[in-house]
Amino acid sequence: MKKNQQISGKTWLKSTKLLPLSAFLAMVTIMLFTLNSVLATDQPETDEVMDTTEVITDEPAEQTEQQEEAQPEEAAEEVSPYVRGEYTTQQIRRGERLFHGLAPFGSGLHDCASCHYTQPQKEINWNPAAIEMARLWEQDPGYSIMDIMNNPVSMRLMEDHAGMTITAEEQHLLEAYYTQLLEKGPGELKAYPIRAAIFWGLGFLMLLAIVDLIITRKIPFKGVHIFILFIGIAVHGQFAMAEAQRLGRTQDYAPDQPIKFSHLIHAEENEIDCQYCHFTADFSATANFPSNNVCMNCHNVVRTGTLSGAFEINKIHRAADNDEPIEWIRVHKLPDHSFFSHAQHVNAGKLDCAECHGQVETMHIVRQVEDLSMGWCLTCHREHEVDFFDNPYFQIYERLHEKIKNGEINGVTAAELGGEDCMSCHY
Ligand code: HEC
Ligand code: HEC
Ligand code: HEC
Ligand code: HEC
Ligand code: HEC
Ligand code: HEC
Repeated sequence: MKKNQQISGKTWLKSTKLLPLSAFLAMVTIMLFTLNSVLATDQPETDEVMDTTEVITDEPAEQTEQQEEAQPEEAAEEVSPYVRGEYTTQQIRRGERLFHGLAPFGSGLHDCASCHYTQPQKEINWNPAAIEMARLWEQDPGYSIMDIMNNPVSMRLMEDHAGMTITAEEQHLLEAYYTQLLEKGPGELKAYPIRAAIFWGLGFLMLLAIVDLIITRKIPFKGVHIFILFIGIAVHGQFAMAEAQRLGRTQDYAPDQPIKFSHLIHAEENEIDCQYCHFTADFSATANFPSNNVCMNCHNVVRTGTLSGAFEINKIHRAADNDEPIEWIRVHKLPDHSFFSHAQHVNAGKLDCAECHGQVETMHIVRQVEDLSMGWCLTCHREHEVDFFDNPYFQIYERLHEKIKNGEINGVTAAELGGEDCMSCHY
């Protein structure tokens, strides 16, 4: 009897073991798929293109698939071989390979993409982005890539494009690739691929631990499960806190600007005063962005830059000629419910720009250094003593002057001047 029971018990275990095991395997597969797709989105899209193992010939392998599309183009060829705006899928692909140095031009193999990047960049890259060149071509019907390549006008074009002449056919193929770049758009810089990997990897480990703790019970020592869960919850909790605090705040925000304007080159190397460009900071609530005229004061004469050639400075000339403002992207921005005045701080408070914006003169791309939180404002207001005697702005505070004279207080902080009243910062 007893023996029998044991045996039936064992077989029962064997048969039911399959159920959680298959459920476990299914879950593992799902997790692996999610992990894979999360990581895959972090890869630049053009990685596929960079697959150099592909054999490059003038007749790509997929020609049979493309023939249908290629035929109408061949018919048009008799009239005019390279009509701007008419490109086949095959031509787009060939243009892409030329541009990425995977297929040779008549003048040799040139990796245009090594300078003219096709993905967003983390650091400043002074060469023109491929998408920006495509946009210029799109806007100007008379724009000729062949002309630029074969008859260079600037020093940089002559140096960087040395030996890179192209034919009319190659121009057509490059244009075809331009259309694809324009369709895809500039793409987005993924900020935290490693964080995403840690997040999902730990999630996966935690799931394994829970499954093993309750169902599979492969690891006899429970300390292992508890350790994994403890670490996992701690790290996930920290991520969640960081995300919640970042909501609405943008510390370290450093967007790409429409022109690669560098404070390092202007404020540091050429020693231009901050207020030459941001002149309203002294008397108005906002610090202005300089107008085209301010840039043109110098760039009427300075037509090319050492690092960027003529490409970036040409944008200033184009904007000035068309009388269009340059659309700078705001970096620092308080929520609408709070009020901030530059004049109050720069003129009355006699604060240096660097106290709030960091060493802007060391940055090619402006980055928000402080978190601009209410706590940040208040901490300085409580600690920072104003220049109470020499600044005529503070003469109206008779009561405080009286107190200092009587020796009741030694100095006056911004907080004592109303810098802690809700109403001075919130409407
Ligand atoms: C030659 C003109 C020029 C000078 C000089 C200059 N700036 Fe700027 N500044 C700009 C332009 C143009 C922008 C907008 C593009 C950008 O963000 O880089 C800007 C943006 C900024 C921003 C970001 C504003 C925002 O929130 O979007 C800060 C902060 C700033 N400047 C501070 C300074 C400081 C501090 C100095 C002196 C060390 C200085 N600037 C000197 C032209 C200038
Ligand atoms: C007490 C801190 C503080 C000081 C000092 C300060 N700024 Fe600002 N700045 C800010 C804050 C906060 C913002 C965001 C304002 C908003 O969103 O209303 C800002 C925004 C800006 C902007 C973007 C345009 C705007 O007005 O919103 C520029 C440009 C700028 N500052 C330049 C300067 C320059 C140049 C100086 C020095 C002359 C300076 N700032 C001094 C805190 C400061
Ligand atoms: C007071 C003069 C002055 C003003 C104002 C000025 N710049 Fe410049 N800029 C220069 C000088 C000098 C150079 C360095 C040229 C070189 O590399 O030889 C330069 C270089 C540049 C470059 C190319 C950098 C490189 O090395 O390739 C760009 C882009 C540029 N400025 C944009 C602007 C913009 C946009 C404005 C207006 C917001 C502006 N500049 C205002 C003097 C000025
Ligand atoms: C060594 C880096 C480098 C390589 C490689 C390179 N370029 Fe350039 N290219 C530049 C720079 C820098 C400029 C901007 C020069 C200037 O405006 O003074 C430029 C400008 C251009 C322009 C003009 C943009 C405009 O509208 O002003 C075109 C078009 C261009 N490149 C196409 C190509 C093509 C096609 C290839 C490949 C055959 C190529 N480049 C390879 C560096 C490079
Ligand atoms: C680095 C120090 C510092 C920081 C950071 C700072 N302030 Fe101030 N603030 C001062 C000083 C100094 C004064 C004194 C000038 C005065 O009272 O007119 C002042 C005065 C003020 C006043 C006028 C108070 C009154 O009623 O007279 C307001 C409003 C104000 N700050 C708002 C802000 C806000 C909003 C922030 C954050 C976004 C901020 N400040 C960040 C130093 C700072
Ligand atoms: C020196 C300026 C200043 C003073 C004084 C001040 N605040 Fe703020 N407050 C801010 C700024 C700047 C923000 C927005 C920045 C942020 O998101 O933390 C803010 C945000 C807030 C928020 C929104 C909270 C959030 O996280 O979005 C509330 C609510 C608030 N303040 C209430 C008050 C009250 C109540 C007082 C008076 C006791 C006060 N504040 C005094 C500058 C100030």
